[in-house]
Amino acid sequence: MNNFDFHNPTHILFGKGRISDLNDQIPADAKVLILYGGGSAERTGVLGQVRKALGDRMVVEFGGIEPNPRFATAMKAVQVIADEGATFLLAVGGGSVIDATKFIAAASRFKGDPWEILTSRGAVVKEAMPFGTVLTLPATGSEMNSGAVITNAEKGAKLPFLSAHCYPVFSILDPELTYTLPPRQIANGVADAFVHIIEQYLTYPVAARVQDGFAETLLRTLIELGPKALDAPKDYDVRANLMWTATLALNGLIGAGVPQDWASHMIGHEITAFNDTDHARTLAVVLPALLNDQRGPKREKLLQYAANVWNIREGEDDARIDAAIEATRDFFHRMGIQTRLGDYGVAASDIETIVSALTEHGMTQLGEQGAITPEDARRILETAQ
Ligand code: NZQ
Ligand code: ZN
Repeated sequence: MNNFDFHNPTHILFGKGRISDLNDQIPADAKVLILYGGGSAERTGVLGQVRKALGDRMVVEFGGIEPNPRFATAMKAVQVIADEGATFLLAVGGGSVIDATKFIAAASRFKGDPWEILTSRGAVVKEAMPFGTVLTLPATGSEMNSGAVITNAEKGAKLPFLSAHCYPVFSILDPELTYTLPPRQIANGVADAFVHIIEQYLTYPVAARVQDGFAETLLRTLIELGPKALDAPKDYDVRANLMWTATLALNGLIGAGVPQDWASHMIGHEITAFNDTDHARTLAVVLPALLNDQRGPKREKLLQYAANVWNIREGEDDARIDAAIEATRDFFHRMGIQTRLGDYGVAASDIETIVSALTEHGMTQLGEQGAITPEDARRILETAQ
């Protein structure tokens, strides 16, 4: 096992009705800026519950944060904070609202050009405003990690950043808030969490028994319960297990002490930057093609994945690897997610744009060995057509 530091300060409040605990989590004298997305939080009544729980505190609201949140929108919120003197941020929504809030929290305390927060991948962030979250879409793990991804439409860039200053102070995870999700978002959440686990598990072995076993359990849980959530959207236990799985998939625990890949994510981000395809769907396109392409370096873990996640134990090594990749693709299809570039309007002639963007954004040494170059990404994308 590799050396690691693990520190995750986010307080999780999990279960039914937990929004009522907001009052105890935010300082009584705070001026709260509530941040939300395109209107689902208002429609579903979550915002109403939040306003009620905040009691007599001074509250300001900022709505309209887009899926794949935009830099320009986040900067408007930074201005609102300055104008209103807000002291605490509360994100109500999915990964996009939470990611935007992290960026806003950092940008509102940053003296230089805020775009540098992204180009430096967060290295320039020395402080951030405190913020909490009320999660409405289990998927990204953003509710319990320090990362965020922001899109700059003018620059055609979707870039991630990480900062130890950007963990939520607390996150409220009420599975009942996910009942209103449309099937497309249920599926996206399951697929995104699945690929987060794979990016930290399916690399090369370092004798990390606990991390591997934990990752395999999380993967099997998604495979079993993902389709059930589509069939029975109001099954509390299904929703509760999916919600907690998505959080554990990317809160640092399974990634501690093991090599990590993230190539599918970085290539996927360029597809979203290109034509706004849902994040999870870009992953469902890239991952199977990448696993097939990288079957040499990932051989041992692919065989372990085949056996422990899919119970594929018979036949030659390559046949078992083929079957595991096919099972992965089938799982995405069962969730209603297509796995080819053409399904999302990306033509063969567009691959060049996506590959050039990887180079432009410095994504030239991807994967657990830093060995996946833009030329490798081109080959992977060509087989994903
Ligand atoms: O905008 P509103 O109206 O709120 O609607 C949202 C949005 O349209 C809707 N929604 C959310 N909760 C709902 C709901 N609709 C009905 N009922 C509810 N309870 O769902 C739509 C998608 O929301 P979004 O927040 O965009 O989805 P998700 O949570 O999948 O977040 C995706 C973003 O997170 C980034 C992605 O790149 C993408 O920008 N990621 C963040 C990560 C992180 N911080 O660690 C890691 C991930 O790999 C990912 O890159
Ligand atoms: Zn993701």
